[in-house]
Amino acid sequence: MSAHPVPLQPSGDRQRITIGTLAELKDARTSIVMVTAYDFPGALAAEAAGVDVVLVGDSGAMTVLGYESTVPVTVDEMLMLTAATRRGLRTPLLVGDLPFGSYERSDEQAVATAQRFVKEAGCDAVKLERGGTSVARARAIIGAGIPVMGHVGLTPQTAAASGGFRSRGRHADEALEVCQSALALQRAGCFAVVFEAIPSPVTAAVMPRMTVPVIGIGAGPTTDGQVLVLHDLVGMYEGHSPRFVKRYADVGSLMRDAVADYAHDVRTGAYPLAEHCYGMPDNEADRLRDLLNLM
Ligand code: KIV
Repeated sequence: MSAHPVPLQPSGDRQRITIGTLAELKDARTSIVMVTAYDFPGALAAEAAGVDVVLVGDSGAMTVLGYESTVPVTVDEMLMLTAATRRGLRTPLLVGDLPFGSYERSDEQAVATAQRFVKEAGCDAVKLERGGTSVARARAIIGAGIPVMGHVGLTPQTAAASGGFRSRGRHADEALEVCQSALALQRAGCFAVVFEAIPSPVTAAVMPRMTVPVIGIGAGPTTDGQVLVLHDLVGMYEGHSPRFVKRYADVGSLMRDAVADYAHDVRTGAYPLAEHCYGMPDNEADRLRDLLNLM
């Protein structure tokens, strides 16, 4: 690995994205682009691509930390991923994802955790999941001066307890609950809400009531923007791929092929070649041999 620091990609003339920018994009009916990232190289890619919002999602528990679900990831693990991502970003709004168990117990717990994401990882905002008791937690965090993004529909942190990993709102009663949660989070002051795995007609029905930007992931075309998990879209995650994922590359197989080629070269002597090695003047090499012989 090179010991030279990687320079941040220039962001051209792009202004730093704020919550106000997102509201303007919604008003102008310009789609908001959000992507997850979990580290410095992912952040550099998002920065260079000119996305509007980067979420350090707790999906990183599965995509980069290898857990089987998002549930086990800790605040400290999320803070490390989020701080690394921060170091690669200049322009997009950075949203930290409050992990399971870090905000549900009380308003005090929620505010304290959200403050850590701002102070220790440089987040512009935080995200939490669900309606219900999360609405009060969102209100408390916003009251403490930290912007909050809500998340309704399929909420992976509590999916096991609420019907598993399936879309939410195929029946009108469940759809109404999803809509009520979104509207409650909006009333609580959330600056945006993620809609995950919601039938397109449900989204379309509630969008006219949503005054804050709605970012969809498997929620159809009528939202104000879209989000995908970075490792899904670049083809670096081998686990279950939901219906809404669109793969834009196969980075995983490129990585596997590259490592296999390297292993082959090492085993056959094709690596390293002279061009990969450091030399020294012949007379110095002779002198070294003499010195070693004297030992
Ligand atoms: O954790 C995550 O990546 C998310 C997005 C899917 C919105 O919550």
